[in-house]
Amino acid sequence: MKIVTGIAEMKNAARVLKSRKRTIGLVPTMGFLHEGHLSLVRGSRRKCDATVVSIFVNPSQFGPQEDFQQYPRDLERDRALLEAEGTDILFYPDAREMYPEGYKTCVEVLDLQDRLCGASRAGHFRGVCTVVLKLFEIIRPDLAFFGRKDAQQAIILKKMSADLNLDVKIESMPIVREADGLAMSSRNTYLGAEERKAALILFRSLQEARDLFEGGERRAEGLIGRIKDMIAQEPLARLDYVQIVDPENLAPLDDIDREALVALAVFVGKTRLIDNLCISQGKG
Ligand code: PAJ
Repeated sequence: MKIVTGIAEMKNAARVLKSRKRTIGLVPTMGFLHEGHLSLVRGSRRKCDATVVSIFVNPSQFGPQEDFQQYPRDLERDRALLEAEGTDILFYPDAREMYPEGYKTCVEVLDLQDRLCGASRAGHFRGVCTVVLKLFEIIRPDLAFFGRKDAQQAIILKKMSADLNLDVKIESMPIVREADGLAMSSRNTYLGAEERKAALILFRSLQEARDLFEGGERRAEGLIGRIKDMIAQEPLARLDYVQIVDPENLAPLDDIDREALVALAVFVGKTRLIDNLCISQGKG
């Protein structure tokens, strides 16, 4: 596996791959890799000739009160994991080269960026879209792989790619969970032992909502009410939001008469965790 830090060098490496007619799969990450990230790498390896994984803890997507400084980092471990998965290139750019002094340009996907997580994390998706577009421009991937753990992120990036006529296809991959159901996240490392147990409330309440739906409840209010009750009963948890939305445009649904995304964010202690699931008739 080649490790590339310079932008010019990365552009060059991508150009060489293209000139050899090899398709490129990109997996953008912020590192501290787990099985969720590695499932994306495997997806890329299956579909593309060459796989580039980027590791960049992107300052522009963190709010001033958020965890940019503490965000876990372990390049050596990540490097070994990526090597073992057969990654071709690890792109590990420097923040000063990605955002040099005087940097001014941002990308916004209007409306979608303000919904769900965007309502409590102002500017977050602007930071995500900006860095991802920069990565697309530097690497020129044919396919780019994102997890449905961050469902809103994948939906917004698909919209960005369509609206800007980008030559990259966005692939979204299933959520990878721990054995007990907790969605894998680099931020799970912040959780103490009691918080780790309490964090199960996210998946459990989503499952409960799905059970109610399968039992015939079609009003979003009914499902949301049950999720709120369950979270209120967990002393270490505090709800940020729970919503049931149309996965196309993230608009809230009152009645679930088509595919619906049930998405929530919950603080467990000081750690903000997200999770979601899709429900639809016939599929459950
Ligand atoms: P990060 O949180 O490191 O996640 C990188 C990719 O891994 C994202 O596409 C995310 O959805 C996916 N992922 C994380 N946990 C997952 C899980 N449990 N199952 C499946 N996929 C999972 O998301 C980001 O970084 C950043 O916003 C980024 C896109 C890199 C832009 O900075």
